[in-house]
Amino acid sequence: MGVLKDTGQIEYSRGLEGVIAALSSISAIDGTQGKLIYRGIPIEALAKYSTYEETSYLLLYGELPTKENLEKFEREMRELRNLPEKVEECLKELPPDPHPMDILKVAVAHAALYDPDRQRACREGVMRKVIRIIAQIPTIIAYYHRTRSGKEVVPPDPELGHAANFLYMLHGKRPDEEEAKIFDVALILHAEHGLNASTFAAMVTASTLSDINSAIVSAIGALKGPLHGGANERVLKMLDEIGSADKAEEYVHNALKEKRRIMGFGHRVYKTYDPRARILKEYAEYLSNKYNDRKYIEIGEKIEEIMIRELGKKGIFPNVDFYSGIVYHFLGIPRDLFTPVFAMARSVGWAAHVCEYTQNNRIFRPRAYYIGPEYVEYNPIEQRR
Ligand code: SDX
Repeated sequence: MGVLKDTGQIEYSRGLEGVIAALSSISAIDGTQGKLIYRGIPIEALAKYSTYEETSYLLLYGELPTKENLEKFEREMRELRNLPEKVEECLKELPPDPHPMDILKVAVAHAALYDPDRQRACREGVMRKVIRIIAQIPTIIAYYHRTRSGKEVVPPDPELGHAANFLYMLHGKRPDEEEAKIFDVALILHAEHGLNASTFAAMVTASTLSDINSAIVSAIGALKGPLHGGANERVLKMLDEIGSADKAEEYVHNALKEKRRIMGFGHRVYKTYDPRARILKEYAEYLSNKYNDRKYIEIGEKIEEIMIRELGKKGIFPNVDFYSGIVYHFLGIPRDLFTPVFAMARSVGWAAHVCEYTQNNRIFRPRAYYIGPEYVEYNPIEQRR
């Protein structure tokens, strides 16, 4: 067995950096130019003209829907928003202190047990399960939040679109159209991003021919981490710690000196400004002015200036998580729901890649290069010291 004493001689890619693990036509990222396209359409056009429902159809089916197909898809999304009664009851029994991403994991797995299409493996059956998961995640998040806050749950409103309905179920009142639109854009921007860690987790699970619900639960677990979807809530925590723009320089200087990461910056693929962060920054700026509360945006813009000055040459720029939290803050979304909201948006990206990859499936099974001892005698316990 070829055992290498010194790993310096072996070429391997830590974190699979740069490794092409699949062929995909769902999205493409140009990390140098800072561009993102979904099925060939620039993210900026989708943010300007599309809706989360239309973008979800595009990601799942590969083309923009006709008016008739969009209406059918929207109708199905609205029909499938409600939770099984047992899941609703269970959400009331769960403790209020775990992180909502842990609640989401439990509730998505629980809901799957009552999915009438659970046993269907045909494409039509899988798509119905997919649409049900995408439609139910917002309801799970909103129901859990209302319940932990001691409030009555607010059932989905079939009159409202996906984004507006979430804010309605969360706050118990219809959002103003402008803010519902801003949230809808945020969902579009978070919907899909290639083989990021959570999408890859879903694909690895699905590649064993396990079921779509198990794949989504794997993805939720991966997204929770602070290096991935968990960064957005930590950005707001950092802005609160800094307190004012004039203290940003010292904070960043100390963090970098202590080799601490500034949340919301850096990216495995983007080595320039994340195009999603550009759009989210505009909305963060707009909402800060609308609410006449510029504290967060001023600290954020100061950190951006310092980080680009200090680390821009290393390709470290704001990523999608840096300004999204400020937008969610002004939309009244509680901080610990920022990552569940990311999951709500990304559920379609996870599903699209699972469906695409399993069409030409091969189980994922990379290798590790063994660097442990070549041979060790089995030592009876009496002789071990
Ligand atoms: C998302 O993959 C996706 O597409 C993810 C995502 C999506 O839509 O799915 O875009 C969503 O997860 C965005 C990223 C959210 N996470 C954060 O904001 C956490 C902070 N960022 C980092 O930890 C980091 O930038 C990663 C995790 C995002 C990327 O990590 P990499 O590619 O493994 O880079 P690295 O850790 O090897 O860092 C390279 C260098 C290091 O310095 P050196 O050791 O070479 O001197 O850059 C430095 C790092 O210290 N660095 C940072 C930094 N990010 C990288 N230094 C300070 N602050 C940071 N944020």
